[in-house]
Amino acid sequence: MRRVWWIGFGVLGGLALLAAIAFGVGIWLGERKAERRVDVDAAPVSWRTDAEALARGKYLYDSRGCMECHGADGRGKVVLRDGKGLYVRSPNITAGNPQVAEYEPVDWVLAIRHGVSPTGRPLLIMPSEDYNQLSDDDLSALVGYIRSLPALPGGSGEVQLPSLVWAMYGYGMIRDAAAKIDHTLPPPAPQPPAATASYGAYVANSCIGCHGANLAGGKIPGAPPDWPPAADLRPGAAMSRYDTAERFVSMMRSGRRPDGSEVSRVMPFDTLSRMSDTDLTALWLHLRELPLTQASR
Ligand code: HEC
Ligand code: HEC
Repeated sequence: MRRVWWIGFGVLGGLALLAAIAFGVGIWLGERKAERRVDVDAAPVSWRTDAEALARGKYLYDSRGCMECHGADGRGKVVLRDGKGLYVRSPNITAGNPQVAEYEPVDWVLAIRHGVSPTGRPLLIMPSEDYNQLSDDDLSALVGYIRSLPALPGGSGEVQLPSLVWAMYGYGMIRDAAAKIDHTLPPPAPQPPAATASYGAYVANSCIGCHGANLAGGKIPGAPPDWPPAADLRPGAAMSRYDTAERFVSMMRSGRRPDGSEVSRVMPFDTLSRMSDTDLTALWLHLRELPLTQASR
């Protein structure tokens, strides 16, 4: 009898040791992955600073998330801090950051569309998968606007992740934007804003980092454990609450559902509420047309 116990303990101890080793290897793999070079053959997009471009650029900066993470003035700020090993500070993206001051047009394309820092390393937190399909027109307006921001002091960002997240990243359970993006996809044709489903599909690109490539929702990869899963945006799920465009627009502006309850503040309402009526209506039209798959039923 005793012998069986001892064998049992031995097996458990062996498994625990193996798990510890696997965990350590995962962290090591994750750190190496973050240091890898991503080679992308990106074409430069020159930036525009005419009045129309600056206005469009500011609108995109404010409504597509840049402002939420890099601050209204572009100086960068603490984006995430949970006191348990997660700490993310975004970089200053004004010309006051000596690195950014030297960016060539292609460096902006690499960071925004491809999730690759001009040094060739992958960006870890920035959701560039949301921005890969920005049209050249919109990208040049966005960068023109950022370049027009006053130069403020401040430097690069900082990303500290809990060991478990590093290990999951190491084993490919969480992927960075550069790994998710199809870098061979050409940018779309110019997209003039209009309250149409096809323009809505263009706007919906800025939701995929959280709601997933097919907008089916689910756990947000790498998110802190207390974040709720992102909602399934295909017909039949949460969207059944929004049978009119007005109801949808009102929720996106106020962060409240038609019954008055609050949607989790994980949804970046500061940013989303700045979307124009045209963009929100187009989004609603697009979401109603999303294909249903069996998984959502
Ligand atoms: C969820 C937060 C978030 C959003 C949204 C976001 N960024 Fe970032 N950005 C970051 C963080 C954090 C970094 C630092 C690198 C990383 O992600 O590991 C960064 C890095 C950058 C860099 C510098 C790349 C480098 O390391 O040299 C640029 C340029 C940039 N962001 C521009 C933008 C623009 C333009 C937008 C909007 C279209 C945007 N960001 C949206 C968080 C964000
Ligand atoms: C930073 C992550 C994030 C981004 C970006 C984001 N969402 Fe969400 N969204 C969430 C989470 C998390 C929930 C679930 C909230 C809850 O359960 O309270 C949610 C819920 C929703 C809901 C359901 C609301 C309800 O009635 O419960 C809708 C609709 C929605 N999002 C639409 C969008 C659209 C459209 C975009 C892009 C324009 C977007 N979201 C961008 C994280 C995000």
